[in-house]
Amino acid sequence: MSVYSTILTQSEFVDKDSLSYPFEERGLQFGDGIYEVIRIYNGEYYLLTEHVDRLFRSAEAIKINIPYNKETMIDLLHQLIKKNNMTNDGKVYMQITRGSAPRDHIFPQDVTPNIYAYIQDLPRNEKTLENGVKTISHRDSRWENCYIKSLNLLPNVLAKQTAKENSCYEAILHRDGVVTECSSSNIYLVKDGKVYTHPTTNKILHGCVRMAIERFLKEENIPLIEEAFHLEDIKHADELFLSSSTSEITPVIQVDHVVVSNGEPGSITRTLQKAYEQDAKITKKLMESI
Ligand SMILES: Cc1ncc(COP(=O)(O)O)c(C=O)c1O
Repeated sequence: MSVYSTILTQSEFVDKDSLSYPFEERGLQFGDGIYEVIRIYNGEYYLLTEHVDRLFRSAEAIKINIPYNKETMIDLLHQLIKKNNMTNDGKVYMQITRGSAPRDHIFPQDVTPNIYAYIQDLPRNEKTLENGVKTISHRDSRWENCYIKSLNLLPNVLAKQTAKENSCYEAILHRDGVVTECSSSNIYLVKDGKVYTHPTTNKILHGCVRMAIERFLKEENIPLIEEAFHLEDIKHADELFLSSSTSEITPVIQVDHVVVSNGEPGSITRTLQKAYEQDAKITKKLMESI
């Protein structure tokens, strides 16, 4: 999907083709930065406050001082949509690096963070939301601070590529058989009417859709057990689903050679998908027809 022509850089709006960076840029050379991806429905951000809060948490964790406050950030993101007259379903990608400076591991003094954000269309993935997806299991070889949404995504990229090469949608990551999350989403197992997922420690990214799911489960009186499950548990799972801003709440119907709930999305997954559509004020609802 093509990028809308006006992008945000620092606190200005410019044509996307006019943006360039020096080759000595800390995001490029060290992955020394953070990012966010926020869903847009009908030209409106979904879970914007949650994402901006996480962006500032990530920045603080790696000692980047964002040169404006959360309110200004939110205002700039709204302006980005307005300036592009965007009214579709889409997403924004926003990145903040420590800045441009001669290459040195030590933080440069008095450097200004490099900030940019751009938006693009992203239609809902009707096929995967309806039918569910196949996945692989994959060793979680990431660092210890996965709660930081850092630019260092090589283990995630390699895991997702392996999934793709196996005709699968996602890679479910595990540390010695303990399931953490997926390469770019959180993962949940349903057993006997309860939903299990990894606790929000430093081993996973604290998903914004996960926060919404916690609300939906409370409203539906479905217990959420924040306990990690094992790869072995998947064999006996009633349902499995994953969540992210771009995947929403997607049923998982297979992990490696194990078929989950006869290969059909389960009823708790469907309940949560309906709650999501309502919460995100999605006008063209898929779930009503399912
Ligand atoms: C590793 C990882 N976990 C979980 C998520 C889900 O986060 P969110 O619900 O905020 O999109 C993402 C999203 O990109 C991710 O990259």
